[in-house]
Amino acid sequence: MCGIIGYTGRKAAAPILLDGLSKLEYRGYDSAGIAVMSPSGEMSPRKSQGKLAALVETLADRMPEGRTGIGHTRWATHGGPTSDNAHPHTDCLNEVAVVHNGIVENFVELREELESEGHVFSSETDSECIPHLLESYISQEMPLEEAARKTAGRIRGAHAVVAASRRDPNKLVAFRQGNAGGIVVGYGDREMFVASDLPALLPYTSSVAYLAGGEAVVVTPEDARYMDLDGGEVHKTVTSVPYDPVTAVKGEYKHFMLKEIHEQPEVALDAMRGRVSFDRHTIDLDGFPLTHEEVRRLKRVVLIGMGTSMHAAMVGRYWIESLARVQAESDNSSEFRYRDPVIGDDTLVVSVCQSGETADTLAAMGEASLKGARQVTLCNYEGTQATRIADGTIYIRSGLEIGVAGSKTFTCSLLSLYMLALHLGVVRGVLDERDMRRHIDELAQLPHMLGTQLADEGIYARLARKYARRPDFLYLGRGIEYPLAMEGALKLKEISYIHAEGYPAGEMKHGPISLIDENMPVVALIPQDALYEKMLSNVNEAAARGGKVVAVATEGDSHVASLAADVIYVPRASSTLTPLLMAIPMQLLAYHIAVRRGADVDQPRNLAKSVTVE
Ligand code: G6P
Repeated sequence: MCGIIGYTGRKAAAPILLDGLSKLEYRGYDSAGIAVMSPSGEMSPRKSQGKLAALVETLADRMPEGRTGIGHTRWATHGGPTSDNAHPHTDCLNEVAVVHNGIVENFVELREELESEGHVFSSETDSECIPHLLESYISQEMPLEEAARKTAGRIRGAHAVVAASRRDPNKLVAFRQGNAGGIVVGYGDREMFVASDLPALLPYTSSVAYLAGGEAVVVTPEDARYMDLDGGEVHKTVTSVPYDPVTAVKGEYKHFMLKEIHEQPEVALDAMRGRVSFDRHTIDLDGFPLTHEEVRRLKRVVLIGMGTSMHAAMVGRYWIESLARVQAESDNSSEFRYRDPVIGDDTLVVSVCQSGETADTLAAMGEASLKGARQVTLCNYEGTQATRIADGTIYIRSGLEIGVAGSKTFTCSLLSLYMLALHLGVVRGVLDERDMRRHIDELAQLPHMLGTQLADEGIYARLARKYARRPDFLYLGRGIEYPLAMEGALKLKEISYIHAEGYPAGEMKHGPISLIDENMPVVALIPQDALYEKMLSNVNEAAARGGKVVAVATEGDSHVASLAADVIYVPRASSTLTPLLMAIPMQLLAYHIAVRRGADVDQPRNLAKSVTVE
């Protein structure tokens, strides 16, 4: 949460910082600010409450001049979303400016100590301790990097920090402690960048290196020097990120989310490329760390994740149990990390974490490592913290996702889990050649089936007209569709602010049914699978109580159409593949309802794409 950026080079820093912040706004948008070192050596932060647009407007006629600076877009933790609490924060003398992502857990005692030494605070934030600590070291003539290392030693918790000082006008120092947010260093032509995340850098450079927890970097326009927080030198490899500039603009789409929903046929193909052999009917899962012998010895698989990734993990659990016949369970990373789970070296922990930086998932992975489990992570970005903790990474290859609510990352995570389950099933001798032929022939159809679902959005626009003003929705699914019902409800809550619940349909009579009346839309996921009859009974029960059933059903199912108020059809497919087809209706229904309600689809209130604090 919070987006941070720094630039030092030959060009005017302010426009680059503002552009970078616009790419990081998905990480928080309570306030924004920049501080630029002026040619005369001044550095006054300019900040605004609210979204970045407010800051851009204030700066429109007087952009701060200078070629080195830092910027921040905030997701408030300590102190309200006011302009005083916006970053960058400075020390008493305006010598240093700091942007921070994370929580200074001991800020109360630090603030007391610093105030008793005469420091004057101008915000309510925990972050402001950092510039004052830096000030106290810099005043002892320490270079900025040494002051930063000392400061890192004083603050508890997990952090990503970038600092600039008037005493070292062409230098930025960044450090990272623990798992709060990433820091990526971008290498340009006599210019350097630091940012929380790739999207801010990709328009300028594709040569990057990632800072790990416990590391610091000093950047000048010419180079970057890395060290650990004890001052020991660290060697970094600079990697090249494949970048398609087209993916970073909305193009003809009204929102990034809509564009990303429409990219799903293509990214599904990317996720399978080189991994699924459509003629040999085999899976070759690069990055999966276990040998065949280890796979055969596995006693248990535990899948973890948060939010949408947690729902993918829940589907993965069904696939792994049914296709590889190994005991599997799924859990929220935030629960798993604190429940002292019983796991050992015969357990495989699969973490789903597209950003590679979700604090709870990283902590849960750390817990699993301590207990000796083998680990694979499903992630979208190289070099991120999750990829460092796991024994191996399956990259989900969804490309950049900018909309805060996940769409294509969900589909690519699901697909990666499906491939993983097939791989485990083959190696454990559960799936034979005939089974694999069947699964892979169907996977070959997936991009096309996804494409057909996107061809006409008329039904969603109609449903939005009909239901957008309803205050509550119930989503029901059984078996492998239950996590999809949860995901549908989550999508709707996230972007339209309508209250929605996702339930296993069998639970309906144990409580939720009392909510059903003629005002309650009930979205029933009812493909023609083994549980079809059971779902039909639930649809009947909901309809009998006046509930307006929106059935998401298999193409050609006319029976359900006679019971439900509305039907969204998905292509006919095996029950194994169907969850991958249910994702799009869940996304498009929420999207159209949110648009109809005039909600801010790409940047819903209070949310952030990457949750880097607990
Ligand atoms: C946030 C995002 C969700 C995402 C979740 C987990 O809540 O808003 O879209 O599913 O984090 O993110 P991860 O990067 O761990 O997959």
